[in-house]
Amino acid sequence: MTLREFTADRLLLFGATGDLAQRMLLPSLCALDADGLLGDNLQIIGTARSDYDDQGYRDFARKALETYLPAERRGGMAQFLNRLSYQALDASTLDGFEQLAQKVGPTTSSDETGGLAIFLSTAPSLFGPTIAGLKYAGLTGDDVRIGLEKPLGTDLKSSCAINDAVAEAFSEEQIFRIDHYLGKETVQNLLALRFANILFEPIWNSNYIEHVQITVAETVGLEGRVAFYDDAGALRDMVQNHMLQLLSLVAMEPPTSFDATAIRDEKVKVLRALRQVEASETVTGQYTAGAIQGEAVPGYDQELGKGSTTETFTAMKSHVDNWRWKGVPFYLRTGKRLPERVTEIVVQFRCVPHSIFAEMGATMQPNRLVIGIQPEENITLSLMSKVPGLGEDGVRLREVPLDIAMPDAFVGQHRRIAYERLLLDLVKGDQTLFVRRDEVEAQWHWVDAIRETWNAADLTPKGYTAGSWGPSAAIALAERDGVSWHE
Ligand code: BG6
Repeated sequence: MTLREFTADRLLLFGATGDLAQRMLLPSLCALDADGLLGDNLQIIGTARSDYDDQGYRDFARKALETYLPAERRGGMAQFLNRLSYQALDASTLDGFEQLAQKVGPTTSSDETGGLAIFLSTAPSLFGPTIAGLKYAGLTGDDVRIGLEKPLGTDLKSSCAINDAVAEAFSEEQIFRIDHYLGKETVQNLLALRFANILFEPIWNSNYIEHVQITVAETVGLEGRVAFYDDAGALRDMVQNHMLQLLSLVAMEPPTSFDATAIRDEKVKVLRALRQVEASETVTGQYTAGAIQGEAVPGYDQELGKGSTTETFTAMKSHVDNWRWKGVPFYLRTGKRLPERVTEIVVQFRCVPHSIFAEMGATMQPNRLVIGIQPEENITLSLMSKVPGLGEDGVRLREVPLDIAMPDAFVGQHRRIAYERLLLDLVKGDQTLFVRRDEVEAQWHWVDAIRETWNAADLTPKGYTAGSWGPSAAIALAERDGVSWHE
């Protein structure tokens, strides 16, 4: 089914007083507004349980903006706050949805109205009741689209149940599943790097690439998300979504166009080609008390207030079983309370097949491409170069970096919050950077199997000191193959 294209003129935010709304959604919308990107007539209607009227919600939003949006981007705050209105609602019952629908107004797009975009940022347990309420109150139809914030389930079964519930009211073309990593500029830049340059694609395969590493390291711990995180753990919280999306962008075949279907078709092929990981190819860890950047921090169980077997770190060796990646390991690792916040992709190339410098005593390092996603956005290609000199004692070679620091290359262009891109695309109806149902389900399928191997092997997380790079077994996992993690 192809739906009519429209730019929404109303954005209905569920969970409008929640943490995500305060930290990301309201600041992103305000920043877009200040840059004139929201369209003059976009109205934003917030809804949540809290009992605000329009003015009360504007005051609430102002506080959030003052806390989370840098002062230099708050220019158009007064104009932005005027777009906001609010309707209190308990989404777990149908009562109140009719009033919400009145507040929102007609859902059809015409010359006068532009249709409705909904953003669900609530507890997953409310997804089903919310969809039922939207249907009941007529807040569905061809001119409505819906964005869904994670977590979308805790395993394949619960994810299918959520997807089925949403599909009761919306077709796949209307559903925008969010993985905020896809909204990050540097993640999108992966596509540009691979497909806007002739240089990399011919060597982007097992003939030239020895292995790939993907690291998502965080310094933060539980951050008060006690109930959520302890039920999730690093595998479900980070690997299932963000890391597998990064992996699929690195490993995908060239899509035929920059189009939602073409790109997502290629990503899902990678996700389906992931080989099942054996228990011996994974490591899990849980942080114990330690220090991050010189500051003492408690262990996970102290933060939690009880003992737990939830992993706050995981590392694994995976494979994409297809022609391009035959025999190339993809090492993944992610964890909380690691020494630094860094997300990066390392592509390790193979050695040259024959070194003409060996006889002269020169040692060579194979080339390496490091794609820094955060906090620094930079791309570094390490190349071998001759050390200047007359060479009486032989030719000496040294690795030198070819470095592109994105902020320097694009001075004057401010980096946007990932949600700015995603909210704009939701309002405009571009699904390219959203996750399709088959992708989510392929991701869960793979992750569920890992959990099963953990359960079968009775694996419990190994302790690692906060501020270290995880359990020593994670280092051993790579070193067994002669690989060192990039640090
Ligand atoms: C979220 C996870 O999806 O991503 C968090 O639930 C994690 O646990 C966060 O901290 C990391 O996002 P970012 O953008 O800070 O790397």
